[in-house]
Amino acid sequence: MKYLLFTISILQIVHCQKLYELLNSVKFFNEGWISNSDVYEYQYEYAYYTEPENVTRQRFSWMELYSRPYLYKRNPDQPLQCDSNPILAETDLPGADFLSIIPSAADPSECNTLCCRYASCTSWSYASAAPSDFNDCRQGRPCCYLKSYTPQSVRNPNIISAIMNRTFPFEHPPSGLRSAVPIGGITTGSIELRGDGTFHEWTIENQSPATGAKLGFINDALLAFRITNLDTKASDTRLIRTHPTHSIKGIQTIKYHGSYPVSKLELVDESLKATLDLYAYSVFKVADLNRSLTPAIIFSLNVRNPNPYPISIDFMSTLPLSAQIDQTRQSNHIIQQITPANYTDCIVLCHQNPSCASWNWQILNNNPTCSLYSDVPYNEYLSGHISGVRGQWSFDKPGPLVLDRPGSATANGQFLLWPYLSSNRTISATVDNNIENLLNKFAENGRWSDDTPIQQSTGVHGAVSVSTTLQPGEQQTLSILFAWYFPHHFWLDLPLDNYYSLLFTNVTDVAKSIGNEEQLEVIANDILSLHNIYSNSSMPDYLIDSLINSVSHMRSAMYFSNGDWRQWEAFDCNDVDSVHNDHQRHLPYILYFPETEKLKMYQWAKYQQPDGMIQETFTVGCLGDTESYDTHGGRRMGDVTSIFILETLELYRWTNDTKFLNDMYPHVSAGIQWQLSVSSNIGLPENLECTYDIPYLSQYPTTTFNSFMHLAAMRACMELSKIMRDTKTYNQCYEAYIVAGKQIDKLLWYNDSLDTGYFLAYTGGHGEKAIFTDALYGQVLAYTYGLGSLYNVSIMLKHLESEVRLADTTYGLRMLTGREPLTNPQDNSIWMGASQDWSVLNLWFNIEPQSALVQSQKGLNLVRQVLNDQWNTHGIYAADGYGVGGKPWITSHYGFHMVFWHLPFALSGQYVDLSNGILTFSPALSVPYTLPVLIPNIFGSLSVIASSNDNRLFTLSLSIGNLSLNTLAVYNVVYPGSVHLTAGQSVQWVG
Ligand SMILES: *[C@@H]1O[C@H](CO)[C@@H](O)[C@H](O)[C@H]1NC(C)=O
Ligand SMILES: *[C@@H]1O[C@H](CO)[C@@H](O)[C@H](O)[C@H]1NC(C)=O
Repeated sequence: MKYLLFTISILQIVHCQKLYELLNSVKFFNEGWISNSDVYEYQYEYAYYTEPENVTRQRFSWMELYSRPYLYKRNPDQPLQCDSNPILAETDLPGADFLSIIPSAADPSECNTLCCRYASCTSWSYASAAPSDFNDCRQGRPCCYLKSYTPQSVRNPNIISAIMNRTFPFEHPPSGLRSAVPIGGITTGSIELRGDGTFHEWTIENQSPATGAKLGFINDALLAFRITNLDTKASDTRLIRTHPTHSIKGIQTIKYHGSYPVSKLELVDESLKATLDLYAYSVFKVADLNRSLTPAIIFSLNVRNPNPYPISIDFMSTLPLSAQIDQTRQSNHIIQQITPANYTDCIVLCHQNPSCASWNWQILNNNPTCSLYSDVPYNEYLSGHISGVRGQWSFDKPGPLVLDRPGSATANGQFLLWPYLSSNRTISATVDNNIENLLNKFAENGRWSDDTPIQQSTGVHGAVSVSTTLQPGEQQTLSILFAWYFPHHFWLDLPLDNYYSLLFTNVTDVAKSIGNEEQLEVIANDILSLHNIYSNSSMPDYLIDSLINSVSHMRSAMYFSNGDWRQWEAFDCNDVDSVHNDHQRHLPYILYFPETEKLKMYQWAKYQQPDGMIQETFTVGCLGDTESYDTHGGRRMGDVTSIFILETLELYRWTNDTKFLNDMYPHVSAGIQWQLSVSSNIGLPENLECTYDIPYLSQYPTTTFNSFMHLAAMRACMELSKIMRDTKTYNQCYEAYIVAGKQIDKLLWYNDSLDTGYFLAYTGGHGEKAIFTDALYGQVLAYTYGLGSLYNVSIMLKHLESEVRLADTTYGLRMLTGREPLTNPQDNSIWMGASQDWSVLNLWFNIEPQSALVQSQKGLNLVRQVLNDQWNTHGIYAADGYGVGGKPWITSHYGFHMVFWHLPFALSGQYVDLSNGILTFSPALSVPYTLPVLIPNIFGSLSVIASSNDNRLFTLSLSIGNLSLNTLAVYNVVYPGSVHLTAGQSVQWVG
């Protein structure tokens, strides 16, 4: 009998270990230690525009101009000092203004107060009567000019200035606090669980710049657990928070790690009687878009009992989903206004009034006022307001706990909390208006004892728990599912349901699709098989980490039930799918979900102008009101029509889709005619904009950037027209290609010494010899798509050397050098593509990998390891000279750095042409090595080791998808025979 019990428990442990071990085997290449004694504070800094945490306008770009709060860790040993010293009478400090503000009194000391509010303020000037309107100041009124650096002083009897004597006792916080992995399905909205256990950046109710504001931070979204010594009955309840603001104790230290779509919070606390790791993750299955559209997050707590006695463990999650704190909803459709005692009364009153659809609570004329609305207006951030959408909770064992918000508005839908139950576990649920009450009951019993079903409950907080016991040495995983179902995704007033509403009928349906622990194992395996392609490779850790985590960029994608796939340039720049910005980010999209990129190609083709120009975007805009759906348009650009041509070739070769090529080719032909027409005078694209729009390069006759895009487009045209047997077009492009090369030689190459030289940023100007980094982006694309060198390699290499010689900074390659003084932030800034493309090209030019990757590593590590903010990589960072060197400067959650996805291609020298069944490699590493094989919907690795007689042994293993080839070769060592592989299989050859 004893023997038998033993066997069963072993079996159970083996079974439970499976998810435990799978989660435990997820690899992470970043970490942040967040301790409960740390002090974290926002500092307000100068930035051009970035995305704020709290979004105060709906149907509008999520942006903040000129100043941005950035989280810092305060050093308690250093004093915080901020004085105006010295004060400079009758002195102006002209320039360097980042803010100009009318002070509340005509007193220069007000400028000191204002200046101290901004970390970037290093000096100020005060005018009792401003000479003219300037930013927020008005002519004739007093004005404080706040400066981000201290300019040369000038005598001026009407101005008082001061240089600040201030300390900055702040350092960058650990990884996981400024940003964290966004979890949630693809196009379903997401949430970030940060390293201190707080939940941020909620977009799961279809929030976007076309609807309501994201929910920046929800303090009452909580995870907690309770450990009980079953011998002594002593118990210990903890919130998974380092800085709890509730009555329950938190955790001493959390070690945060992220590998998209997994966050891991290691709980490091010697007073805990168990070893605990929390995982939060979502479904992400590459090559299976529908499966990846699952609107859900799983919280899994890995628990091990290291004690000689048995313990019980209770794990719970509570979410305040019935009330949105500091969010206002304003509607003209008021059906009732009441003066309630508490905002929770609004929820009940709305519930009792059949025509009530949503509510808003605020203090109005000193009275708490509740407005009931017959519609559901979009929410936006406003401190002191609380609002919500009509809804009610229900729960009946074995669950789920569901909050139902019926209706057809964007914010109507369902939430669900459901613990994973099994024979050795029990679960419970509750709904409560009072979070302390809810937490205290959990601390007392590890559950909510009431076993009666919950029906039509209107409480603010819904919670579920799951409990089990662990024998000495035993380990288990307790999991809770958080799912949602918000089918009605609006665009302003236009209803566009989410695609996922075609896959699921309600939230319980979502939950059932991943509703048992075997499913969690499948989810973990899907994630691991993708991660392993990178993490088991010979690539450097910084690159593996960036490849895995940059995919968090998908957070802003949308997929509608009409089949439209759309994505913002960024939440703070609210245009949709500009061709050039899409291309910077597109490689993981085309690899993981290639159909999404094809959908966009068809749409760009549809909006092609009669003159053949491809329009820049599906919906125009940036920094303002969101335009109506598909208000397409844009500028005349050197990297839009050209990229459309290149991407046609890329998609055709990589997916062997003949129908796609036939559908696109007329648009390609028309695009080529446009491209030739804008290059007809000098043989290079004339006066066009490009993705680097801030320096306004279209003022110049031509630029190297657009000229190399032109070369690449002409090369792609030659390939495409050959495939289509279109000799006329082939000849046109061939001739244009030859002319363009000669013209670049003549107009753009510049020898600045006997041994050195570079391509000029542009022709014309005042004859200055400016250099532009990332000028050779066209060559990056040409290599990845198998078009080879567009120009003399040793000349291009010279240019890259000059980029470093003339434009290198601590933070990466400066965009434009030699046009204006360095203090101009627009030229001086670090655009995140240049350093990556520099490394890609150096690899293709056979520079030894460690040297080639220097710039890429520096650029990405600035964000990963200095700012510790890799899940909010910006498009542009500031350089030195204007006060915020190395800090985010423009546009959050951006894709510019994602051109580093060309690096694995440059490392492996991968060439794919599935239309002819060809896959070849020319790796840049020396034996032995393993590198990823990246083809849309097809993933694997190439391993090369030394074998006997100076030969090498090549192994191509497939992890995901199917692969059929006529020709497989590494260097020129060809696999003898054709190849047919399915996931899990491999081929080997020697040579
Ligand atoms: C956003 O608002 C919340 C209150 O709702 C506040 O706790 C948080 O600090 C704000 N974030 C910033 C960056 O100011
Ligand atoms: C700045 O403050 C420090 C510390 O209070 C002081 O020692 C120093 O003299 C001040 N510098 C100026 C220029 O006033």
